[in-house]
Amino acid sequence: MKITIIHGQAHKGVTYKITQMVLKSLVAKQDEIQEFFLPKDGPNFCCGCYKCFMKGEAFCPSADKVQPIASAIEWADIILLDSPNYVMEMSGPMKNLMDHLAYRWISHRPHGSMFTKTGIVVSSSAGAPPRGVVKSMARQLKWMCVPKVYTLGFACYTAPGEEINPKRKRKIEYKAEKIARAVKRRAARPRTGLREKVMFSIFRKMQSAPASAWNPTDRDWWVNHGWIEKRRPWKNNT
Ligand SMILES: Cc1cc2nc3c(=O)[nH]c(=O)nc-3n(C[C@H](O)[C@H](O)[C@H](O)COP(=O)(O)O)c2cc1C
Repeated sequence: MKITIIHGQAHKGVTYKITQMVLKSLVAKQDEIQEFFLPKDGPNFCCGCYKCFMKGEAFCPSADKVQPIASAIEWADIILLDSPNYVMEMSGPMKNLMDHLAYRWISHRPHGSMFTKTGIVVSSSAGAPPRGVVKSMARQLKWMCVPKVYTLGFACYTAPGEEINPKRKRKIEYKAEKIARAVKRRAARPRTGLREKVMFSIFRKMQSAPASAWNPTDRDWWVNHGWIEKRRPWKNNT
């Protein structure tokens, strides 16, 4: 299996440790991993120039930072995103990366390989459980057409630099292991969900309509992949 991990933070705190618990049960010797720490390995803030949408992703002013991560996402069978809860949202660097990947949403130019991948999102908070954070990161992967995203969000009640208390840690380890097993099963038999097929059909119709000519780059993507005709990404992986 190929796994791409994107950390929404550069430090190795509680969130990183929960991710390690998942990886401990998930990763086998032969698996390959690509790992990125944000903001260090990530792009500058999206400046809203629309070049990725209108001209192509290579024209983004931060393409040199975005494209290695985008390629790693496309390469992987499993994509893992993690981020601490910052004011009930994902971290700023993670959100910034997601802004840069908007061109890969199904409404623009989804990558064919995404329809059979598996996602995992991890978050931790000090107080309230980070449900909104994992939901928000999962939503990003879902709009990029990942059919199944597993979520792990835990309130850890830790002060800065403090370890998770042993009882809480055991509970997290138990859930991390359970999810890792489910991910392995899913990745061994990847399949596209009904939701992705329906979404594909809706956006295929939009890309077929004359109004889609407002963005020829998106439209060409759909036409050149044969998606307006009979080809389907979950059958051909492109
Ligand atoms: C800027 C900032 C905002 C935070 N906002 C929240 C919050 O809204 N709710 C919460 O429960 N914890 C919040 N926290 C605490 C962290 O989510 C929590 O300590 C988390 O486990 C830290 O993970 P880390 O060790 O991986 O950095 C915040 C921390 C920071 C630095």
